[in-house]
Amino acid sequence: MSDAVAAAWKAIGLHKDPTLQDLFAADRDRVEKLSGRIDWGEGDGAGGILLDWSKTHLTDGLLADFEALALACEFDAKRSALLSGEVVNPTEARAATHTAQRGVGSDADVEEAAALHRRMQMLIEAIHDGALGEVKHLIHIGIGGSALGPALAVDALTRDLALVDVHVVSNIDGLALEQAFAACDPATTLVAVASKTFTTIETMTNAASALAWLEDNGIDDPVGRVVALTASPGKAVEWGVDETRVLPFPESVGGRYSLWSSIGFPVAMAVGWEEFAAMLDGARAVDDHFASARGRDNLPLRAAFADQYYSRIRGCQTRACFAYDERLALLPDYLQQLEMESNGKSVTAKGEPVSGPTAPVTWGGVGTDAQHAVFQLLHQGTHLIPVDFVAAIAPGDDLDPAHHRILLTNCFAQGAALMAGGNMASDGKDLARAFPGDRPSATMLCDDLDAAALGALIAFHEHRVFANAVLMGINPFDQFGVELGKKMAKDIEGGGGDFDPSTQALLAAAGVI
Ligand code: F6P
Repeated sequence: MSDAVAAAWKAIGLHKDPTLQDLFAADRDRVEKLSGRIDWGEGDGAGGILLDWSKTHLTDGLLADFEALALACEFDAKRSALLSGEVVNPTEARAATHTAQRGVGSDADVEEAAALHRRMQMLIEAIHDGALGEVKHLIHIGIGGSALGPALAVDALTRDLALVDVHVVSNIDGLALEQAFAACDPATTLVAVASKTFTTIETMTNAASALAWLEDNGIDDPVGRVVALTASPGKAVEWGVDETRVLPFPESVGGRYSLWSSIGFPVAMAVGWEEFAAMLDGARAVDDHFASARGRDNLPLRAAFADQYYSRIRGCQTRACFAYDERLALLPDYLQQLEMESNGKSVTAKGEPVSGPTAPVTWGGVGTDAQHAVFQLLHQGTHLIPVDFVAAIAPGDDLDPAHHRILLTNCFAQGAALMAGGNMASDGKDLARAFPGDRPSATMLCDDLDAAALGALIAFHEHRVFANAVLMGINPFDQFGVELGKKMAKDIEGGGGDFDPSTQALLAAAGVI
């Protein structure tokens, strides 16, 4: 850690901890100062998202010291490196060009992304026009970043209408694939095999079983029903997919950042190209904001200031995200990979041990369900857990407006209650009924949860993750932590490996060796 970084952290650590209530009482402009909007589009396509961080412990003084930290960490230069396609993933000597998929990056990266998108759009439109016969179902096979984004976006955006019925299958547990088979007619089913590397054992095993299922059900040319989505097109062709149905994406797009590339194929198949493009546009609005806003006015960076404050100064080991919208039921799952696989590290980008905690555990659920399950601990437990609330002003349902009104009032009431605390006992003294309060939350409120808003929400989190990584001095774009377990499983499959007695006994008990 450089002297400047150490000095900035020291200054941050010296701040007193006034309560949230005190902070509001002391500053009439707090909501205005700590809320911001990112807007996009015009006319019918206009939308935006309000990001309210006023119920966190950030103060003018803390923000100034975090800005000094960002300066000491060379945030501006690192952001430019990211957005101009320089190497930002030193362990793999790679750039991270996911924003180029949305039109923000070096000319060469943006042009390459646009050309690949045109190819993807042409194939999708040809399929919709019947080039591969009638297509009613799409089984999308992938795992991790090749599944979580598509699953979230398809679930969020096809509640009213889907041009094809999409089933995302990730788990190697055959039950997952069987469930998709049961819902699909093989004669009208396409299979998308999504894998950046085209080697992942779960995906390749599931893909082989999907081909067998098609064949067993009378499809003459099963591999002719496959579209491959990959950064290793040669491997897909080797596996048997005709080049015309291989949709590549650049190696520099990381798996958990790949929804915007051809990995988004099932989304575009289900919602149509225009809506997919709207999702990219919403993300781009956040890219534009992230690229130009400075210091505390940069909303992903501001969120990272709060994240760092809670994890490093207040010792919070988890952060929770509750989506008050059924359409975002899969958002916490998506964020888990994005945040934990990116920033769950113990070494800096220079390969030295980190000096403090890195990514907290991301978890969450949907409101109001979670209120009746886990909120007890949030309000009265001994852990301090910063909470993110996500909601939309426009309802997603056509029922009595009471549904959406109650949903939103509950969302806002939870944030207010976490902060205010109080005592529900009639005498005000019963500790079992006491709420300590002063528990932080942030609220992300979309005008409407359409494709653009979903894109914006995801891009906001991508940049928040990057900003956190810069402040911690770590590389968010590699993921070597997933390799050892994979290798050991492979060793067992290959009949090798020298395992501990417990593992040997489990393998023997299950009869797998
Ligand atoms: O095991 C982790 C991981 O490498 C993720 O980073 C990635 O999203 C996932 O596996 C799937 O990898 P692939 O797209 O290459 O199949």
